[in-house]
Amino acid sequence: MNENRINAFMDEAPVQEPERQYYYIEKAGRYLDKMCEAAGRPLTFCVTTFGCQMNARDSEKLTGILERIGYVEEPEEEKADFVIYNTCTVRENANQRVYGRLGQLGRIKKKNPHMMIALCGCMMQEPEVVEKLKKSYHFVDLIFGTHNIYKFAELLATRMESGRTVIDIWKDTDKIVEDLPSERKYPFKSGVNIMFGCNNFCSYCIVPYVRGRERSREPEAIIREIERLAADGVTEVMLLGQNVNSYGKTLEHPVTFAQLLRRIEKIDGIERIRFMTSHPKDLSDELIEVMAESEKICRHLHLPVQSGSTRILEKMNRRYTKEGYLDLVGRIKKAVPDISLTTDIIVGFPGETEEDFQETLDVVRKVRYDSAFTFIYSKRTGTPAAVMEDQVPDEIVKDRFNRLLSEVQEISAERCAVHTGTVQTALVESVNDHDESLVTGRLSNNLLVHFPGDASMIGKFFRVYLKECRGFYYIGTLQKE
Ligand code: 5AD
Ligand code: SF4
Repeated sequence: MNENRINAFMDEAPVQEPERQYYYIEKAGRYLDKMCEAAGRPLTFCVTTFGCQMNARDSEKLTGILERIGYVEEPEEEKADFVIYNTCTVRENANQRVYGRLGQLGRIKKKNPHMMIALCGCMMQEPEVVEKLKKSYHFVDLIFGTHNIYKFAELLATRMESGRTVIDIWKDTDKIVEDLPSERKYPFKSGVNIMFGCNNFCSYCIVPYVRGRERSREPEAIIREIERLAADGVTEVMLLGQNVNSYGKTLEHPVTFAQLLRRIEKIDGIERIRFMTSHPKDLSDELIEVMAESEKICRHLHLPVQSGSTRILEKMNRRYTKEGYLDLVGRIKKAVPDISLTTDIIVGFPGETEEDFQETLDVVRKVRYDSAFTFIYSKRTGTPAAVMEDQVPDEIVKDRFNRLLSEVQEISAERCAVHTGTVQTALVESVNDHDESLVTGRLSNNLLVHFPGDASMIGKFFRVYLKECRGFYYIGTLQKE
């Protein structure tokens, strides 16, 4: 029996959270001990994340719970005894990837009698997906959604106890459970959820349906978490939410995002603050002011434009115009001249004409993004755009996509090169994947620099001379002060 397990094990599960989940962690741990005994070895797990930073953070929470239960992490999915897919459904090809890999996993499971498979995340919030899984993927052991992820230990213990497939999907929730275990991928930086869900209902987007209504964490809970992270050696935090600019509006005692940032800035040990994602319609002057004054908020803003055409923006229900967006960008650049701006753009939204597309190119040329994520519009069942007329033919969309991409890449390369020859502070994140004599560091503006170093430098800040720009990253040398 694992020494860490509490001796006095209660018969009844507590009703209160998070106590209830700690009880089930203990219970699942007892089952796991028996399973390990039967296997004659420790059992391993692998969490595979699809999609955004929000999912990556959720996966850290799953990992924290699994490690508490007593599973050992196995980086290679094919070798793990418990594989968890944390899925994304923002675009259709994300779903296809999951089905493809799941088929492969089913074949591996046949050869490993100890193996279990769990599926969770946004894709599971779609009823058609769960129907399909029930019908054609019998070998899946556990299915849960985004709203009850905090119940992972309880669901797993139920699966272990019953030996049957457990499926638990909630339509929505207003609940936020604090203080569950979590494991960080990096010791020196961490994502911190500040809010969940989204209320914007952009007409193409499935997120409000799968992540539910917007709810903010209490500022005290966020501060407490970041103080703990700082005490644990974290120097960089990424505040996460679908729409961070509307943080705090639904709290009993409303707080603005800018006010939250001011409080986080005061936490000793935290050197860098990032956040994602900002909706242009909610970005306040107060936030621009805080960014301009701050020493700790990074010189990077991700500000999805989606389209440059006011007509399309209206159909997208984005609630800003092309001119409004450009004006906002102008104000941000004036207040924070060295800011790096990135964006998301969708091409081929229903009804998009060549003229609309030219408006998008015009915004790209005017803003000069440091980088842009470009997406081909993907029809998501249940969203208003899915039933709009004038869906744009594939060939036209592909052609626009390619034209947009080359424009974006050309501008990014020019933007990146601007900093060549300067000295900047980099937080070293890892030894370089391809060349062990180099380390990879991240600059405040989110660009990467590779420079000579070793593993002892990971997690520390260094001044680096940016010798050469290679399109979207730098080669540098350590600056001796
Ligand atoms: N089709 C294509 N791209 C989409 N995004 C969201 N929904 C869709 C869709 N249906 C993009 C948006 C968003 C990013 C996370 O994904 O650009 O900002
Ligand atoms: Fe989707 Fe719009 Fe919410 Fe972003 S803001 S998650 S694009 S609905």
